Amino acid sequence: MPNNKITQLFNIKYPIIQAGMVWASGWKLASAVSNAGGLGIIGAGSMYPEILKEHIEKCKNATNKPFAVNVPLLYPDIDKIMEIIIQKKVEIVFTSAGNPKTWTKHLQEHGIKVVHVVSGVKFALKSQEAGVDAVVAEGFEAGGHNGRDETTTFTLIPMVKEKIDIPLIAAGGIATGRGMLAAMVLGADAVQVGSRFVATPEASSHQNFKEMVVKAQEGDTKLTLKELAPVRLLKNKFFEDVQKLYAENPSKEQLIELLGRARAKKGMFEGDLEEGELEIGQISGLIHEIKPAVEIVKKMMEEFETAKKEVSTF
Ligand SMILES: Cc1cc2nc3c(=O)[nH]c(=O)nc-3n(C[C@H](O)[C@H](O)[C@H](O)COP(=O)(O)O)c2cc1C
Repeated sequence: MPNNKITQLFNIKYPIIQAGMVWASGWKLASAVSNAGGLGIIGAGSMYPEILKEHIEKCKNATNKPFAVNVPLLYPDIDKIMEIIIQKKVEIVFTSAGNPKTWTKHLQEHGIKVVHVVSGVKFALKSQEAGVDAVVAEGFEAGGHNGRDETTTFTLIPMVKEKIDIPLIAAGGIATGRGMLAAMVLGADAVQVGSRFVATPEASSHQNFKEMVVKAQEGDTKLTLKELAPVRLLKNKFFEDVQKLYAENPSKEQLIELLGRARAKKGMFEGDLEEGELEIGQISGLIHEIKPAVEIVKKMMEEFETAKKEVSTF
């Protein structure tokens, strides 16, 4: 069993982190993963401050293990969100989509461990300079919002590892123990897994979306809307509408208008598979069933140990 910088930093059993995900990772998923020995994360990105408060309280009731909250720093009510996190004594915060300098010190002064999510080497260095406790390096395969440079996990992890000294968590395209071992061989201390945990009974996403994730095959997702904020989506009607608009060489305003409001909620939470935005990673092609989070963690660890033994005979 790996006992390393990340398991020690977070005081967890396994170096498996369930990613913070809008419309998917509420208290049920986060507490299930934490109870299974990984680190569960509540995704604050789709929650009003009062809703987040409720999720933190419920998560504390459902587990006595460590868990974290993910805060995309572009969030409009960021001050209120951070106030709740501090007031509720959340121990670990994963920040993303913004400048790591803005909140890191303030959170750390309140005894909170801070991890920042990046998509490139430059941002990893910036995060280290900001004093974060660890970095998540997320490759272009990942579900959800993504980097502009399209650097894959396989290339990103060793490049980040070469430049930083703080603990490193790999994300993007990891859903199995074999993927986890590969990422750790490349230099990661742990993995952050998103898409695989969407297809669980505990994820708060709509059943229609979960079933579409299970049906997805290689090639069914694509990174799009780079002019706004690059995001990897399942190819559905909304995605095709975006493609049609691209054929007309649209302005940024036209793209914003097509995206409209609450597309992600409509797709992932309300289950509108045609008009909604469906964020998922390339690895969805390897996800074939909906199963409880505890089983995913257990299977990943078993596969990890088996693969490690196999590799030693190469
Ligand atoms: C449905 C969905 C929603 C996501 N929402 C967020 C989010 O709110 N904040 C964030 O930092 N990352 C978000 N991500 C990215 C994940 O945190 C994670 O880094 C990524 O899913 C890892 O790649 P994988 O999907 O290949 O496992 C999201 C990913 C998915 C699939």
